Amino acid sequence: MIPDLYITNIKGLAQVYKNPPQCVSGSAMDEIPSITNAFLAVKNGFIHSFGRMEDLRLQGKEEVINAHDRFVLPAFVDSHTHLVYAGSRETEFVDKIRGLSYAEIASRGGGILNSAKKLRATSAEELLIEAYARAMEVMTTGTGTVEIKSGYGLDPTNELKILRVIKKLEKDLPLKIKATFLGAHAFPENVSREYYIDQIINEMVPAVAEENLATFIDVFCEEGFFNVEESERILEAGKRYGLQPKVHANQLHVSGGVQLGIKTGAISVDHLESIGREEIEALKKSNVVPTLLPGAAFFLNSKMPPARELIEAGLPVAIASDYNPGSSPSGNMQMMLSLACVLLRMTPNEGLNAMTINGAYAMNTPSGVISQGRPADLIITKKIPSLHFMPYSYGTNNIEKVLLDGMVVADNP
Ligand code: NIG
Ligand code: FE
Repeated sequence: MIPDLYITNIKGLAQVYKNPPQCVSGSAMDEIPSITNAFLAVKNGFIHSFGRMEDLRLQGKEEVINAHDRFVLPAFVDSHTHLVYAGSRETEFVDKIRGLSYAEIASRGGGILNSAKKLRATSAEELLIEAYARAMEVMTTGTGTVEIKSGYGLDPTNELKILRVIKKLEKDLPLKIKATFLGAHAFPENVSREYYIDQIINEMVPAVAEENLATFIDVFCEEGFFNVEESERILEAGKRYGLQPKVHANQLHVSGGVQLGIKTGAISVDHLESIGREEIEALKKSNVVPTLLPGAAFFLNSKMPPARELIEAGLPVAIASDYNPGSSPSGNMQMMLSLACVLLRMTPNEGLNAMTINGAYAMNTPSGVISQGRPADLIITKKIPSLHFMPYSYGTNNIEKVLLDGMVVADNP
């Protein structure tokens, strides 16, 4: 079998595994298994082989990308976004700078309800155009696989509209996408709490499952939003239809969201700005991936999630962008890496593990590692002195090419 493509003279090939673990935890997060002066071969969209340049014999007819002075690593896996939304909310951004809290903005009809109003007034076609641009943008900045949530529709018609747009994005783009149904993102205006919960459980969940529109179900378990008991009923309803839970947990308060995620068998619990010893001890006894969203903590200028304590407790931390119009209007994972390092005090290696192999674990995809037989979803950097230069030179796009299934999908000058 002759490979379709060789990447040669790679300064450092990062995240190489013969037998990749599902995730890396604790002190192992500070290691990136790498080969210097390496090659990588791709066949039929999968990683065929890799090794040291001195062991490679080419005949001269092969298709080759020369990655001299460049690093190759797995494309980023962003396991938490809300990138299908309508319009923007920079007015609230200014209100926040002037001192209003996230909760205060939400209680004045801003926040998620503001985005829901905009989304309901936007056609599926327009929504697709907006979301397509964001998806292209994240792909060119290094994301290969992304999770996208609904949650700005807040009624059956509009929640399904978002999920169908996500399906369409998946069809139209090489970007790999998994969808999450987040009907329980906020309570819509003009209906009672019970009415809306009933609508989620008895109308939306069955419709989402019927059209096979989502893999996961999520809830915003938070004071002022969905309480633990309501969240549990919704997640259990999703599970009956084959949707796996994820939880927006402990962002603003000690909400019980982490314990709820563990109890319902969630694949991840996300945010975690407000957790303590109790939550960390509970996570240690579970397989739930603690997922941190440094973009949201940065943008809201909030308390930081305790990344160091989680890692020192031996847990596998994932990092995602939370790309959304209210709390993190960026899906740039290179920026998230810098924020994870500077604000969460994660090392560059820990950050890179958190957004490759561990991100993949948090959304159950085979990308995120360099290993034989895995999808050839790859980043080729620009000429940079080391991989640590990437988070160091924050705000710079250090990525030259992105390959998905072995095809170049982004080529930055
Ligand atoms: O993950 N916290 C809930 N959802 C989003 C914010 C949504 C919004 O403000 O539009 C988040 O931060
Ligand atoms: Fe979120």
